[in-house]
Amino acid sequence: MNQVDYLRISLIDRCNFRCQYCMPEGAELDYILQQQLLTDGELLTLLKEVFIPVGFTRFRLTGGEPLLRPRVVELVRAIASLPQTQDLSMTTNGFLLAGMAQDLYDAGLRRINISLDSLDPETFDKIIGNRSRSRWQQVWNGIQAAHRVGFDPLKLNVVLIPGVNDREILDLAALTLDREWHVRFIEFMPIGNAEMFGSSGWVPSEELRQQIRERWGLTEAQVRGNGPADVFKIPGAKGTLGFISQMSECFCDRCNRMRLSADGWLRPCLLNETGQIDLKSSLRAGISTTELCSSVRDLLAIKPEINFKQRYSGSAGTYTRTMSQIGG
Ligand code: GTP
Ligand code: 5AD
Ligand code: SF4
Repeated sequence: MNQVDYLRISLIDRCNFRCQYCMPEGAELDYILQQQLLTDGELLTLLKEVFIPVGFTRFRLTGGEPLLRPRVVELVRAIASLPQTQDLSMTTNGFLLAGMAQDLYDAGLRRINISLDSLDPETFDKIIGNRSRSRWQQVWNGIQAAHRVGFDPLKLNVVLIPGVNDREILDLAALTLDREWHVRFIEFMPIGNAEMFGSSGWVPSEELRQQIRERWGLTEAQVRGNGPADVFKIPGAKGTLGFISQMSECFCDRCNRMRLSADGWLRPCLLNETGQIDLKSSLRAGISTTELCSSVRDLLAIKPEINFKQRYSGSAGTYTRTMSQIGG
């Protein structure tokens, strides 16, 4: 059985982008109210007295957009300094990163994954639902800043959407040729985006690999990480290419993670919430952390049966919550 020791912690469900694939236009999102968010103190108590004692040692901070969380740098410092933390990382859209990269690094964050769905500012703005001044340059500046201060590995996440950014596959892959950046292509999932998914569909990772192979060749490679990416590299390139293929293959058998939502629900799977635990309400009701440890252990014990363990259904709209709500 897989060891489940990787916790994805959503710090906030809000986002300063509105990526079409994640929060489609018109989607009614009920944001979590401030008083419903886990406080910094509650989150740290849960980590120290529940998650670490039951065996979690690797943590990823996600959102919405995690950099919108007030005092996020202090939170990073507190989590990074727990002696049991073996790995701490963050997934961000990069928009606020240029001004925060150094502080985050100094606080103990060492690796980061940044979304970059396009190298073309116009396409980028279309994807992120931006109607005002282009935001591409600001994100690019954030990526450069992360590189400069020393985040390693530095990964760029591309959700590939047919007809929108699929013509950029080779340009995005080429970023790894002379930079030690790790570009990952993610198969587009039908989560909270029925309309868009229905009209665009998705491209299997193997088709992308084929295009890249024909242009440069491709060999297997490795990069530090806890996720489900299959890693390759263009021969001679400095960086790697990752493929996250949840549509064309099922990687649930190697699932090593659980998710903690910004309002304190512990969810065993991205797509299956059976058995989820409301840790925040339990804490606030005065239930002891010893009891919470035993509830989390019970959930860990049944996780293998709860795991999604099937290829995603192609039928758009099957999963109605958005990634920002689930905690990407
Ligand atoms: P590393 O530790 O660097 O390997 O990170 P990661 O790949 O786990 O994290 P990231 O947040 O960058 O995730 C990239 C993408 O992987 C997400 O956008 C999802 O599409 C997909 N993904 C991450 N976790 C899960 C999961 O538990 N289940 C499924 N089906 N897809 C996931
Ligand atoms: N399909 C695949 N990946 C998605 N993400 C958000 N929505 C989807 C989707 N429908 C990704 C983001 C980011 C991560 C947190 O989740 O691009 O890389
Ligand atoms: Fe794990 Fe569920 Fe994602 Fe499968 S779908 S990898 S079981 S979180």
